[in-house]
Amino acid sequence: MEKMIIVLIDDQPFFLIFMEELIKQIEFPIQIETKSFQNPEDALDFIEENDVDMVISDYVMPEMSGIELLKEIRNLPDRESVIFIMVTAEHARNIKREALQLGATDFLTKPIDKLEFLPKVRNLLRLRLKEKLLQNKAELLKYEIERNLKEIKTRDKEIILRLSMAAEFRDEMTGDHIERVASYSKLIAQKLGYSESFAEDIYLAAPLHDIGKIGIPDNILKKKGKLTPEEFEIMKKHTIYGYRLLANSKVKVIQMAAKIALFHHENWDGTGYPYGLKGKEIPVEARIVSVADVFDALQEVRPYKKGWKTEKVFEFIRENAGKKFDPKIVDVFIKSKDEIIKIKEELSVEHPYFSSLLNTEIDNLPTP
Ligand SMILES: [Fe+2]
Ligand SMILES: [Fe+2]
Repeated sequence: MEKMIIVLIDDQPFFLIFMEELIKQIEFPIQIETKSFQNPEDALDFIEENDVDMVISDYVMPEMSGIELLKEIRNLPDRESVIFIMVTAEHARNIKREALQLGATDFLTKPIDKLEFLPKVRNLLRLRLKEKLLQNKAELLKYEIERNLKEIKTRDKEIILRLSMAAEFRDEMTGDHIERVASYSKLIAQKLGYSESFAEDIYLAAPLHDIGKIGIPDNILKKKGKLTPEEFEIMKKHTIYGYRLLANSKVKVIQMAAKIALFHHENWDGTGYPYGLKGKEIPVEARIVSVADVFDALQEVRPYKKGWKTEKVFEFIRENAGKKFDPKIVDVFIKSKDEIIKIKEELSVEHPYFSSLLNTEIDNLPTP
């Protein structure tokens, strides 16, 4: 704010010059600029186009009365707080009352008394300046809060992803598996009509579904062939380990991640593990991630298996509606086929965010 602008309006040029000279005498921390008009219409155009701080207007003018001018100004967008001082005759009580109702700030009496004019104008300008400074401060604060919030979100996201990569790392999975599962889950949540904040949360929570694999011994986790029933029992425990790692959090997204970790291998028909829950007994977050995870895992190429073709996996998902999966989620998933395939292609070809966090280039290690 480098200057404040006062608009003066009077049909008699003499008064304009007189007021200009008076205003020059005001001592003020920032520059005061005056702009004088004999015609209220011209003044109105100027006020509409400029960030005017104060209007001092005569009441009796041939083209438009001070009251009409005031009405017009208050009707302009963002001009409701411009200071408006009306210059009237001493005993114009009714006019004053009407002007006050229409949002006039104060009055000056004609003939203008220097000792009234100067302090009044200066005091009102001060108020205006304070108000503007406060507004600037509020805007600055708002900007800073937004920036901090963004940084916190990025930080949270990165911490969660790095944690989820710890499990994937041991399992010889690449970062893009969890990134795709996150994206599919978010899309399903949106298509099911959940809120944007739920969709954002599931995007962050889904990657942690297998975090409990950290607790599974290498000979089982990395076994190339089929697991024995005993080994499979141990493998199943990754759901409980994951839950224990994430449980009792006060953070909403971690609470969600804990549920997903514990229940993502439950089946709609009750044949899953660890508890054999059925239907809606299984939290919806876990039902969503279960479809997303199986869809992606079946297509993944691993040292001991070829990846399934995408079409075949869609077929598998459809066949398992009401068995492994929630039929409503399968329905939404199949209907979003094009978008699912788009995500798959984007996150398989391009360098995904998750794996970009992993420094796999041994040559790139920093030297001390
Ligand atoms: Fe799992
Ligand atoms: Fe997975």
